[in-house]
Amino acid sequence: MGLKFSYTLLAPIYDSIVGSPTQEMRSEGLKRIVTATPQHVLINGIGTGLDLPFLPENHRYTATDLTPAMLAKCKVRLSQHNLNMQLHTADVMRLPFEDNSFDIVLMNLILAVVPQPIQALKEASRVLKPGGKIYIMDKFIRPGQFAPTRRLLNFFIRHIATRTDVVFEHLLESCPELILINDKPALMNGWFRYLDLEKVEN
Ligand SMILES: C[S@@+](CC[C@H](N)C(=O)[O-])C[C@H]1O[C@@H](n2cnc3c(N)ncnc32)[C@H](O)[C@@H]1O
Repeated sequence: MGLKFSYTLLAPIYDSIVGSPTQEMRSEGLKRIVTATPQHVLINGIGTGLDLPFLPENHRYTATDLTPAMLAKCKVRLSQHNLNMQLHTADVMRLPFEDNSFDIVLMNLILAVVPQPIQALKEASRVLKPGGKIYIMDKFIRPGQFAPTRRLLNFFIRHIATRTDVVFEHLLESCPELILINDKPALMNGWFRYLDLEKVEN
């Protein structure tokens, strides 16, 4: 079973499972994109749009997701908010955008979901302008961490919901143009983290 199929099944119940446990972490994390100057923000894997209530209204947003059923929920939520946002059905591992297009790329609960997170980070970096920022909120294990339960869990759920074996530092090694500027625990003793990256100027 692929992620698109499983998220199609999950779409009607996603908010009731994920909404409340992630609300505080989400609202806190999205303070990172508050700036007086309007920015063009790419939101990768927006899902049903649980981020929408916490997004500043002064930016322009482009948002993607692989699963039309998730985007359909997001579209309904978007109609209740005053946001300049375009929704696209797209794969974050092959983004349909030009190089150097966005000021900010937001990746909440997507980088550790997709089967090829290195490719997803490379794509985010490709479409980001030099000097731009990538803001991540997701679950990662640490380099060398044994984490047997999460590695075992990964075996069962990687094709239906998310990976639980991704080591963020290994992803970053593949993108030397990205500099880690912030790394803070977000939830569950630092299993979930806020990670801020900056793309070096040419
Ligand atoms: C765990 S949900 C997170 C949704 C949202 N970011 C949030 O914070 O609630 C993962 C989302 O990633 C989407 N997804 C899975 N694989 C994808 C891919 N290759 N490209 C884009 N979206 C993908 C799913 O459809 C789902 O909406």
